[in-house]
Amino acid sequence: MSRKIFILILGGTPEAYDLTIKLQLKFTCLYSLAGVAPTRRPPPANHRIGGFGGVEGLIDFLRETGVTHLIDGTHPFATTMTYHARVACDALDIPRLIFQRPAWIPSLEDRWIHRRTVEEAAMSFPAAGNRPFLALGRRDADIFARIPGLSPILRLIQGEAPSPNWTLVHGRGPFTAMEETTLLDRLGADSLVCKNSGGSSGAAKLDAARTLGLPILMIDRPPLESGPVTADPSGIEGWIGGQGVAQE
Ligand SMILES: NC(=O)c1ccc[n+]([C@@H]2O[C@H](COP(=O)([O-])OP(=O)(O)OC[C@H]3O[C@@H](n4cnc5c(N)ncnc54)[C@H](OP(=O)(O)O)[C@@H]3O)[C@@H](O)[C@H]2O)c1
Repeated sequence: MSRKIFILILGGTPEAYDLTIKLQLKFTCLYSLAGVAPTRRPPPANHRIGGFGGVEGLIDFLRETGVTHLIDGTHPFATTMTYHARVACDALDIPRLIFQRPAWIPSLEDRWIHRRTVEEAAMSFPAAGNRPFLALGRRDADIFARIPGLSPILRLIQGEAPSPNWTLVHGRGPFTAMEETTLLDRLGADSLVCKNSGGSSGAAKLDAARTLGLPILMIDRPPLESGPVTADPSGIEGWIGGQGVAQE
């Protein structure tokens, strides 16, 4: 008798959410969120919120719930969760797929300065300017607070800026290229700092920087964990059924 399929989807991205909504029509799925940020849409009916308690906690969870497949749809920079998922699935021999949107690629008009980490991007200032627009979360933005003489612009969904010298903007995307251009221009940004998250919803800020001729300090994606990776949801049912996926 074949085992009932039970898929754990590690979420945190709109793509993982959309995939869950589609897969739950055919399979038993559980959508998992870290619970660090408010969600834009109500989570799928079958969901859980909160960390697992490291690799050991995740191994226990997978064992106790009888998960048969794990799809890692976390953000490309959520490296800890992705590492834990790899180790736990390897230990239990559970098939695991990384579902990740493609990275952005610069066009000829773009002025990208590649940086490997947020720390490296922060160290580029003040040489790179003194009024960067930080398209980063609060935890990452805090690193810039260590650089003297900066007056960054920080956009957050909620929360406060690390220092009174900063300009804080509250907002939640997606934004249009026109909105982003107007904002960066009005606030006098002299550069943009962002992670290479990929996807269409955050790409308007790149359009704005291009229009305004601003350099972009682009934090490149961390190296991927081993194993199959896809950006294409259409092949995932085949993967669940034991076929391979087209690699990115
Ligand atoms: N990093 C970014 O730039 C970014 C941007 C947008 C969205 N996100 C999303 O926000 C969440 C947290 O990101 P992060 O950078 O803090 O990740 P992280 O550093 O890789 O993970 C930190 C811890 O958060 C818990 N966690 C992360 N994703 C989880 C999930 N989907 N379900 C249950 N627990 C989860 C795990 O706790 P335990 O060890 O206790 O299991 C993990 O060890 C992720 O789901 C990610 O997709 C991240």
